[in-house]
Amino acid sequence: MSEDPPRTDEYQGCARLYDPLLNPLLDRPRRHVAALVEHCLRPFAKSEGPPPPVLDLCCGTGRQAVFLLERGLRVHGLDLSPAMLRTAQRTTSPRINYVHGNAAATGYADRSFGCVCVSLALHEKPPHTREEILEESMRLLLPGGSLVLLDYRWPESAAGRGAMRLASLVERLAGAEHFANYRQFLAGGGIRALLGASRLPFRRVQTFFHGSMGLYRVFTHGCEEA
Ligand SMILES: C[S@@+](CC[C@H](N)C(=O)[O-])C[C@H]1O[C@@H](n2cnc3c(N)ncnc32)[C@H](O)[C@@H]1O
Repeated sequence: MSEDPPRTDEYQGCARLYDPLLNPLLDRPRRHVAALVEHCLRPFAKSEGPPPPVLDLCCGTGRQAVFLLERGLRVHGLDLSPAMLRTAQRTTSPRINYVHGNAAATGYADRSFGCVCVSLALHEKPPHTREEILEESMRLLLPGGSLVLLDYRWPESAAGRGAMRLASLVERLAGAEHFANYRQFLAGGGIRALLGASRLPFRRVQTFFHGSMGLYRVFTHGCEEA
């Protein structure tokens, strides 16, 4: 069963501060997400008509969507927080199609998108919601489509663990439940464990911040890249 939408907007208090505080750090990985999404859509360029659209699930303030749009992609963004969506609509392009909704039960038809991306959102959800968002994302993909995930990972190096301390501080400030989910996510093996349990084919493409953040590509069954 999908998560009940919260009665309060968890991001109400930080929607205006989110971009000024985090964009200087997060824009680099977001640009890599956009490059990977564009790469994932290449197989569709061989077919007639425009490439299929991209969905940025848990799009927040729309910053990731902007980098996708800059690559000439047709972009949809979905988020649960009205405050984050208001910021997205106020600060980004009207060409991005924003929708208020739950990433675990979006209401889009099966096979609506060539690529779905989820940046920095799964770690803050409880395990069953992560699984639901993963399942929903795969339902929305066309055959040959890919899911692109960016999230924290447990780093191997001391420098990475230093970077993780900064992330932990940010996550702690986001609230007790958010922080507990983040800790559980890392202790439970992060994206690798989530994808391993789902038996979906995937590849880690890149890491950032000394290995404390990872970028992953998940393939639709039978469509793994050689
Ligand atoms: C840490 S922010 C990341 C935002 C954006 N992806 C980025 O990279 O900056 C997490 C976002 O996930 C959204 N979110 C959390 N649970 C959600 C759900 N069930 N459905 C849709 N959005 C959700 C929050 O409202 C918030 O905007």
